[in-house]
Amino acid sequence: MWRFRYVWDNIEAMIRNKTVLLGVTGSIAAYKAVDLASKLVQAGANVDVVMTRCATEFVTPLSFTSITHRPTVTDMFEVPDDFEIEHIALAQRANVVVIAPATANIIARLAAGIADDMLTCAVLATRAPVILAPAMNVNMWENRITQENLTRLRARGFKMVEPVTGPLACGSQGKGRLADVEDILTVISQALRAKTDLAGKRVVVSAGGTQEPIDPVRYVGNRSSGKMGFALAEAARDRAAEVTLITAPTALDDPIGVTVVRVDTTLQMRDAIARAAARADVLIMAAAPADFRPAAVSGSKIKKESTARMDLHLVPNPDIISEVRGNLIKVGFAAESEDLVRNATAKLKKKSLDLIVANNITEAQSGFGTDTNKVTLIDSRGKIEALPLLPKSEVAHKVLDKVVALLSAGPTNQGRNGRRK
Ligand code: PMT
Repeated sequence: MWRFRYVWDNIEAMIRNKTVLLGVTGSIAAYKAVDLASKLVQAGANVDVVMTRCATEFVTPLSFTSITHRPTVTDMFEVPDDFEIEHIALAQRANVVVIAPATANIIARLAAGIADDMLTCAVLATRAPVILAPAMNVNMWENRITQENLTRLRARGFKMVEPVTGPLACGSQGKGRLADVEDILTVISQALRAKTDLAGKRVVVSAGGTQEPIDPVRYVGNRSSGKMGFALAEAARDRAAEVTLITAPTALDDPIGVTVVRVDTTLQMRDAIARAAARADVLIMAAAPADFRPAAVSGSKIKKESTARMDLHLVPNPDIISEVRGNLIKVGFAAESEDLVRNATAKLKKKSLDLIVANNITEAQSGFGTDTNKVTLIDSRGKIEALPLLPKSEVAHKVLDKVVALLSAGPTNQGRNGRRK
């Protein structure tokens, strides 16, 4: 209770006088949206409610109107004048859009870009951050189609308040209950707090593990999924930077609002980074470029019958980040399995970096392929900050907080980094 009082003060400060477009869709959890609308109003927000037709089967529009003292919109064609203008007006005046509860159906329609009612039209037309708080049966939540739709929406910048595990209205048990209203309020206030502290800055981010061909079928590679680099690119974009993401092969969709350059090998990544870094203010290397490549690449598939054993002769690849010179902040990552701080600090110095993100890849849920990461930030002045296990999106913002501080402090590695004044 006391903790929520403290959190509530922060939420209230962010939400006051803001316009929140609350979308309500057809789920039994729709009644909780009434509580959410009420808390938003108590915090001083102007709340526009748009209900889908199915939502009105669960809760009446009058419930929302009574709380918000504004008309609740249920149908595009009900609005007397200029209905086309109305959804644009709703979209434009919103500082944030939140859909709670968000059904599997609305998630699928948004992922497909469908705009066939007031809510989907408004979401498509808004430039405000959009938050989804899903609620549904556990099997619908776990269905790969739903998860693929959510992945697509996340890549397009939608924010999520994940459902929680517990007894569901359908009688089953599992993940699918609408998140607590307090948690939804917290994410709304975070979205409203969005920073623009990288406006005017060009940020280059690398992601993924490069693949070094042996023949047209096989390659030497590593386990990087690209998630950390993509999270950094999205976070920098959300803070108003102009972002170029140079990525080795990944299964991830291109984030919107980011220039994406896809490469395969370390040599290709080096060329792409050299070009982009020449006009950049910041370079963040979260990629895991292969340190070695086969000395010779076979033009045709090597037949296993043609040789009793296969010896790979590898030659070293260039160290990309060490080669980059110029008036920019350089941030490296260090994937370490032992002596984290010592090894990362040695890399920071050897590669003339401003900051290194020491990544303990032996920790559970940390490092390659995970959605979370446990890192320690070490700057060139020797300041060390160990972070707890966090979602990669939050790690990205912590790294960018440091980058913003470094940008305002000015160059720290002038000599070694060959910076211009
Ligand atoms: O992609 P994910 O699945 O989300 O996983 C994230 C991650 C574990 C890959 C990421 O957090 C990470 O630690 N990336 C760095 C991996 C790595 O190559 O570490 P390193 O210690 O070998 O290299 C140190 C730094 O030099 C890195 O910034 C690296 O990008 C850079 N480097 C490495 C080799 C090379 N030839 N050129 C480079 O510039």
